[in-house]
Amino acid sequence: AASPGRPVPGTDFEPVAPNTQDALVVAKGHQQNVVIRWGDPVVGGAPKFDPAKQTAAAQAKQFGYNNDFVGLIENGRDRWLMVVNHEYTTEVQMFPAGTYDANNPTEEQVKIAWAAHGLSVVQVEKRRGGGLEAVSSRYNRRITLDTEFEVRGPAAGSKYLKTSADASGKRVRGTQNNCSGGVTPWGTVLSGEENFHQYFANSDKVTDPTTQARLKRYAIGTGTSTRKWERFDKRWDVAQEPNEPNRFGWVVEIDPNDPDSTPVKHTALGRFKHEAANVKIARDGRVVVYSGDDERFDYIYKFVSKGKYKPGTSSLARRHNSALLDEGTLYVAKFKGDSPAAEIDGTGKLPADGEFDGTGEWIALASGDKSFVDGFTAEEVYVFTRLAADKAGATKMDRPEDIEPNPVNGRIYAALTNNTDRGAAGKAGVDEVNPRNGNKNGHVLEWEEDHGDAASTKFSWRLLLVCGDPATADTYFGGFPKDQVSPISCPDNVAFDPYGNLWISTDGNTLGSNDGLFSVPVEGPERGHVKQFLTVPYGAETCGPVVTGDFVVVAVQHPGENGTPTAPTSHWPDGGNSLARPAVASVWRG
Ligand code: FEO
Ligand code: CA
Ligand code: CA
Ligand code: CA
Repeated sequence: AASPGRPVPGTDFEPVAPNTQDALVVAKGHQQNVVIRWGDPVVGGAPKFDPAKQTAAAQAKQFGYNNDFVGLIENGRDRWLMVVNHEYTTEVQMFPAGTYDANNPTEEQVKIAWAAHGLSVVQVEKRRGGGLEAVSSRYNRRITLDTEFEVRGPAAGSKYLKTSADASGKRVRGTQNNCSGGVTPWGTVLSGEENFHQYFANSDKVTDPTTQARLKRYAIGTGTSTRKWERFDKRWDVAQEPNEPNRFGWVVEIDPNDPDSTPVKHTALGRFKHEAANVKIARDGRVVVYSGDDERFDYIYKFVSKGKYKPGTSSLARRHNSALLDEGTLYVAKFKGDSPAAEIDGTGKLPADGEFDGTGEWIALASGDKSFVDGFTAEEVYVFTRLAADKAGATKMDRPEDIEPNPVNGRIYAALTNNTDRGAAGKAGVDEVNPRNGNKNGHVLEWEEDHGDAASTKFSWRLLLVCGDPATADTYFGGFPKDQVSPISCPDNVAFDPYGNLWISTDGNTLGSNDGLFSVPVEGPERGHVKQFLTVPYGAETCGPVVTGDFVVVAVQHPGENGTPTAPTSHWPDGGNSLARPAVASVWRG
């Protein structure tokens, strides 16, 4: 094992101890503020937030619910366009006690939920010696479940995307379940439509066996939906609109510098529960996008464009580079361990060579209009990507969450959040890249593409972290002494500071304390030295992280989740008896 070195630049702070406070607790010597919270004004004319008098029209101008991904795009000195995903709604926490009946929501309540989805673009400014502040600007924008999107790429206009409301198969109303995302080198934002399946009803009433198998593989909702949206718009009723679910599950692109632009759904990147999408430019200038499918036993993908990147963020460069995402090759990952299978015993014990590691290859699924998968047209590969990847023999992973290239060392990092079904009866057993049965704390994967080229079809990999309680034998912290690290469970989002240290936010901590944000150096003697930088309020998930040399931004998602207005478990950030409000916070030294 490595011996601990000096604190690495960017990680020189005293770790926060695990806790269950209803507060954002940050490392000593740091301050914090709320940048913007659910209900705060985003665009002109937004009324003051009043949950007792909320309307859909008000919500469509206010900051949405359940902030997840946060991207900052420079827009001047100490000024950024902040782009935020609003992943999903928790109606029982959004309306005052006794005013929301889950069995019988009102039409207005349902429309409020639609308006609380999507994304926000908000200009933010850094105050001298302080945090970020949201300001009004001509760029401020809300995108909701009612905003029109343009469908592009090989599945645009596909028969599988046509509905009674859109005979073209090229115009989709809205985006939903936008989980994580990425800022592109050309200054736009990619956002992944993740758990889109949960809002649909009655997929069990579809009788055609091929359609039924496809709906099932994507777990599209059966029977009455939890939110009952199908009562107010038939597009959520799969029995009436069997293709509507095919219009979600894409990577969408937003151009925050052009507030009038029509956002795009990029079909060449495949359709699955996209957690995020992050770009790396290949040696020859082709654009590579990494994305994971967050489901137990699902896959890691990458897309390699046909055309080449033009550096810059001008509107010309943005248009050129965005169009690159519409033609290329879609791959899925297959991993191979280098230790004998008998040494991977499912307990998390390291094999004799001292590492969970090996090599892998990218299997091409389709390129342009050519399919490489038997029994699938290219169109079917893009729309029913999961089934094509099943057929191709990809490696079943422990819920791939965020994936991001490290801008300093060039390697790629993926959070595999957990998979309690690993090794269960009738399910896939362990392999070297998913080495624990009943994996409840997750792990962090690192790989390098051959020749350091993002377009390579081969790579080598190793697990950086096998998460959990460092005091137990089933965890691994990059070889760093385990008595000196913070416990970490359920890694979800990943980010890098300017020094190339990895920052990990968590969702679903099983170790009895709140979720949080952690730093971990990935090079030198401090590699694997996990330190907790902050904890989020009770019931919340830590999202978003942006880590600059100056400040950290986190999205506090679903504070008090699983509480109710009458028995809330969080009143963050407003305190007293207020409804908990998902919010973006900034943290700085001072
Ligand atoms: Fe929305 Fe995979 O977390
Ligand atoms: Ca090995
Ligand atoms: Ca996530
Ligand atoms: Ca998660």
